[in-house]
Amino acid sequence: MTRDGNIQPNSKTGLIDRFTTIDALGLAPEGEEAWIEVIHKMDSVYADLVDSQVELEKKNAALEEAHQFIGSVLASMTDVLIVCDSKGKIKQVNAAFLELTGHKEETVLGQPIVSMVTEDAMPMIATCQENLRARAVVSDCEISLRDICDEPVPLSVNGSLQHDAGGRPIGMVLIGRPIGELRRAYQELDEAHRTLEQAQQQLVFTEKMAALGRLVAGVAHELNNPISFVFGNMHALQRYGEAITTYLNALNVNTDATQLEKLKKKLKIDKIMNDILPLVEGTLEGAERVSDIVQDLRRFSSKQSEPKQSFNLPPLVTTAVHWVLKGAKHKPDIVNKLPKNMKVFAHRGHIHQIVVNLIQNALDVMAGSSEPLIEITCERDGDFVSLSIRDHGPGIPSSDLPHIFEPFFTTKPIGDGTGLGLSVSFNMAEEQGGQLVGGNHPQGGAVFTLTLPINGNKLGTPDGG
Ligand SMILES: Nc1ncnc2c1ncn2[C@@H]1O[C@H](COP(=O)(O)OP(=O)(O)OP(=O)(O)O)[C@@H](O)[C@H]1O
Ligand SMILES: [Mg+2]
Repeated sequence: MTRDGNIQPNSKTGLIDRFTTIDALGLAPEGEEAWIEVIHKMDSVYADLVDSQVELEKKNAALEEAHQFIGSVLASMTDVLIVCDSKGKIKQVNAAFLELTGHKEETVLGQPIVSMVTEDAMPMIATCQENLRARAVVSDCEISLRDICDEPVPLSVNGSLQHDAGGRPIGMVLIGRPIGELRRAYQELDEAHRTLEQAQQQLVFTEKMAALGRLVAGVAHELNNPISFVFGNMHALQRYGEAITTYLNALNVNTDATQLEKLKKKLKIDKIMNDILPLVEGTLEGAERVSDIVQDLRRFSSKQSEPKQSFNLPPLVTTAVHWVLKGAKHKPDIVNKLPKNMKVFAHRGHIHQIVVNLIQNALDVMAGSSEPLIEITCERDGDFVSLSIRDHGPGIPSSDLPHIFEPFFTTKPIGDGTGLGLSVSFNMAEEQGGQLVGGNHPQGGAVFTLTLPINGNKLGTPDGG
């Protein structure tokens, strides 16, 4: 109790010292009991108050901790977070959003989300809102935010509804992953892919040119033959022409019959008359042969591939083999078991190139062989035709077998082989809807089998078997 008679709580405990107080009040015993009761109640209320205060402080500390935890999680999120209310106004964004867009938090909060996205993203936002209202999940839709310079910042967005404590939807939460980098990387990848494709096409063309180069010797020989007999024939025809002109001139000036007969014999007019037709026919044939060779060559060297067509395979194989052998130093024996007719549907030029590559490889591996031999067979297998070229060389070492179709794989000395022949041939075979496989023959040597469709079917398709 204070000096002026007021009752005060104990300064240490905070509780009213009831005995001091009751004594001080000088109350009757029954009144005293009631007071004691009141004081007890006050004691317990005050104790409860202190407990609640302690509890509240604990909860506050926990709340503070939770707040800090959430804040640090939001701050360290690399994905963009946007929380909107049910009307689409921004309630919260995270540090990633601010960093990515350059906006300040205070200028963003309370703004409608549509004011923060590019025009083309607005329908997407509307769809997002509709979907969320219908409680559908929004996943992987692309929108672009506007940064402080009004430049688009593309995001891949996932969204969900935000609920209050009673489970009622009160807004939406959008999480966006920046895809600008990803897109740039993708574009670069695309660019690299295109460059690679061009390089590959160039490579195929280069290989083709290299193969063509190897053929030149054979082709030159091939052309020389018809050209030389066309020349020979033309010289003979020129001489015959002169003789006929002399004889006709004599006829025109009415030379007498005996002299005419003499001249006719001298000029061998009868022999000339018999020779002219075969000479012209031979010349024409030679010219046609030259034209065929040139056409084959053009087809082979043309960059644009001609359309696929149905053609008879054996003559093309024979020509290709013939050409390679013409340029070869050591000519192997050829066992040609090709049938007369076997149609396939493919690019003639490509098939020519594949056969040239296979024969050239066979020649190369048998260069030191005393009895070089190549066997060529061709048989029909359902809707496909299989052309096999077997050599009697050393075969392919098993360690090389998995690599022979890889580009640039070669066991030839530097400068002798590019290692592209089989790889290009493999791709060309697939382009025809066929296949090129290679391995060792059980009786020795290597065998390569080219499978080609008879019509447009592809190997491995239901129609193609
Ligand atoms: N008939 C074969 N017998 C044994 N090995 C072969 C045969 N054909 C190919 N090879 C092996 O496969 C490798 C690759 O052949 P590929 O035709 O792709 O390239 P290359 O002949 O070495 O060079 P190029 O590009 O000039 O053709 C050859 O170096 C060789 O080791
Ligand atoms: Mg080769």
